[in-house]
Amino acid sequence: MIYLNGRFMPIEEARVPVLDRGFIFGDGVYEVIPVYSRRPFRLPEHLKRLQHSLDGIRLSNPLSEEEWVRLIGELVERNQDEDQSVYLHITRGVAKRDHAFPTGVAPTVFMMSNPLVTSTPELVESGIAVVSAADNRWLRCDIKAIALLPNVLLRQLAVDAGAAETLLLRDGFLTEGAASNIFVVRDDVLLAPPKDNLMLPGITYDVILELAAAASLKIEVRRISEHEVRTAQELWLTSSTKEVLAITHLDGKPVADGKPGPLFRQMYHLYQDYKNTVMRAAA
Ligand code: PDD
Repeated sequence: MIYLNGRFMPIEEARVPVLDRGFIFGDGVYEVIPVYSRRPFRLPEHLKRLQHSLDGIRLSNPLSEEEWVRLIGELVERNQDEDQSVYLHITRGVAKRDHAFPTGVAPTVFMMSNPLVTSTPELVESGIAVVSAADNRWLRCDIKAIALLPNVLLRQLAVDAGAAETLLLRDGFLTEGAASNIFVVRDDVLLAPPKDNLMLPGITYDVILELAAAASLKIEVRRISEHEVRTAQELWLTSSTKEVLAITHLDGKPVADGKPGPLFRQMYHLYQDYKNTVMRAAA
């Protein structure tokens, strides 16, 4: 079952008019929220980022936080899997095509849930290959906008090269992945790019930094040069659906010895323990 503009229905019955500004302009924002054992993970943080995205495109939030929590809970109940990935999507609504904001138009609110497919143990063991590319997106990458053509084109470069993700570099510095955040380990220090307008403030990114601080790892949040990426001791990729994965190859070359490193292993276990603890506490 999906949710569209106030009603739950089978996805086959869901219809959006072709003049929806999401379809015409990509004029909308979205969120992806992982659900473990039917409990949304870090929901308040996702709803806060949603508000930031809505503010960024000057669209008022159609629902209160309580309404979001209730509706997401209902969507999760109406779907079968214990672990789900909730996708929610808001557009500026349906109006005659004109770039300027329409007045008096209700936003379109859509939510669906899919089974959450997390990384297999084999992938955690082997790590993933990524390719690099110049980050040619706009300068508001902090907004989780549904207009994802640049991300789609960048991700396809990875697919074309038989890799899992594209690592993005802007003006000689690391920003993020096409649909993920990237961390670097050098001299046993965890490096993270600063949350600014050039990257999406990842919810998983925050979890990783919190867990690293709690484990007394050395952390530096700062700009990371391309040279530092290419000569890293470890590279990690994070996102709500991938959690944390080791990047073992960059542009066909091994990262250090080409195997997931010890700090990755430590973080992977910290992440699993944390997830299990908060989910048990919520039960
Ligand atoms: N993508 N950066 C970009 C550009 C992303 O699209 C995502 C997530 C992230 C990681 O953010 P988080 O940890 O909050 O998932 C970073 C989602 C999963 C997607 O578009 O499907």
